Amino acid sequence: MIRVLSVFGTRPEAIKMAPLVRELEKRPDIRSSVCVTGQHRQMLDQVLQVFGLLPDYDLDIMREGQSLTAVTTAVLRGVEEIIRIVCPDLVLVHGDTSSCLAAALAAYYHQIPIGHVEAGLRSYDKYSPFPEEMNRQLTDRLSDLLFAPTALSREHLLQEGIPGDRIFVTGNTVVDALRFTVNHEVPLAMPADLRPDQRLLLLTAHRRENLGNPIRSIYRAARRLAEAFDDLVILCPLHLNPAVRSAAQEILSGCERIRLIDPPDVLTFHHLLSRACLVLTDSGGIQEEAAALNKPVLVLRDTTERPEGLAAGVLRLVGTDEERIFLEARRLLSDPEELARMSAVKNPFGDGHACERIADIIEEQFYYNRPNERFACQTTYADR
Ligand code: UD1
Ligand code: UDP
Repeated sequence: MIRVLSVFGTRPEAIKMAPLVRELEKRPDIRSSVCVTGQHRQMLDQVLQVFGLLPDYDLDIMREGQSLTAVTTAVLRGVEEIIRIVCPDLVLVHGDTSSCLAAALAAYYHQIPIGHVEAGLRSYDKYSPFPEEMNRQLTDRLSDLLFAPTALSREHLLQEGIPGDRIFVTGNTVVDALRFTVNHEVPLAMPADLRPDQRLLLLTAHRRENLGNPIRSIYRAARRLAEAFDDLVILCPLHLNPAVRSAAQEILSGCERIRLIDPPDVLTFHHLLSRACLVLTDSGGIQEEAAALNKPVLVLRDTTERPEGLAAGVLRLVGTDEERIFLEARRLLSDPEELARMSAVKNPFGDGHACERIADIIEEQFYYNRPNERFACQTTYADR
C-alpha cells in the first residue's frame, strides 16, 4: 500500500487537486489522505463542498491580513505534525502557493519523497508573480516526481538540471476539474441575469503585486468599458482579500451594469465563464480554464507563466495600465471577428486525463521502479 498525503490550502490548489484525490481514492494500491492547510477558509470550503471532499486533517491557519511568513511557518509546523501521524510514502503538493512550498519543505525535512503537481511553470521574474515564482522554483528543487502540465514546463525543468526521468508531462489537472464541473447541473441561482441582447465580461484580480495602484487602474479601465458599451454587463467576483474588495467598492460601486459579487463557487464560476464573451484577469488558473472553454483573455499582468496560451492566441498580455487595458478591450469588443479568432484555438493545457496519468506514474514508481530504490512504500516514520 502506498500512503499518499496530499496537502493544499487555497481555492485554486483545491480545484486542481480535487480530481486527483478522487482518482487516488479509486486505486486499490494507494491509501490517500488529505491535509488542508486552511490558508483560505471560505474559498477553500466552497471547493471541498462542490467536489465532496472531506479532508482528514485541517490546519485551519487563515488569519485576516496574514503575512507570508505567518502562512509559511504555520504550514511548516502543522504539516510536520501530520507527517508524524500519517507516515506518508509520498507527499503531493500543487502549484506555487505558500502552502505548497511550506508543505514540500516539511516533507523534505523528514526525507519523504515529494510529488509536485503543476511543476515547471516559469516567468523567470523573481517578483512577478510574487511570491509564486520563487515558491514554485524552490518546490521543484525539492521534488522527486515532477508532474509538468506541458512540454514547455518539462523543458524548463530540464534546462534547470532536473533529471529527465523524474519529469512527466501529464496535462494540467484543471482540465480534469472542468470535465467534472461543466457536466454538472447548472446552479439555479446564477448571479448574472443577462438579457438576450447583453454581453458578459468577467473580471477578476487578486495578485499581491497588483494590490494598490495597479488594481485601481484595472478597475478604472473596467468602469470606462461599461460606459463605452451599453450592451455590456461586467461581472466582478471579488476575492475575499479586503485589499481587493475595498478598491473595487470604491471605484466600481454604483456603476450601472457593473456587478460586484462574492466569489461564486467553482461550478457557478465555470458556468459564468462559459457565457462570457471576454475575460479580464490576473489569475493563473482562469487563463487555463478560459483557454479550455475557448474564451479570449486579456491578462492583467506584465508576465505570464502560461505562454502556451499566448502562442495559441487565446491569451493576450496587457499589463495593468488603465489606458492600455481600456483600448485593447474596446478594440476586441468592437470586433466580433477578432474575438471569434481568439476563441477558435486548441486548448494547449491538457486533455482532461492528467489525474489518471499522475496516479499511474505514482503506482509505477513505487511498484515497478524499485531497483533504483528511490521510492519505497510500507516504511514507517521510525524507519527513516
Ligand atoms: C493566495 C496565493 C496565490 C493564489 C491565491 C488564489 C500565496 C502567497 N498566495 O493568495 O498564489 O493565487 O491564493 O486565490 O500563497 N481571505 C479570506 N477568506 C478566504 C481567503 C482569503 O478572508 O477564503 C482573505 C484573508 O484576509 C487573507 C487574505 O484574503 O488574509 C489573503 O489570503 P492569502 O492566502 O494570504 O493570499 P491570496 O492573495 O489569497
Ligand atoms: N474561481 C472561483 N470563483 C471565483 C473566482 C475563481 O471558483 O469567484 C476559480 C476559478 O474557476 C479557478 C480558480 O478559482 O479555478 C482560480 O483561483 P484564483 O484566481 O484565486 O487563483 P490563481 O489561479 O491565480 O492562483
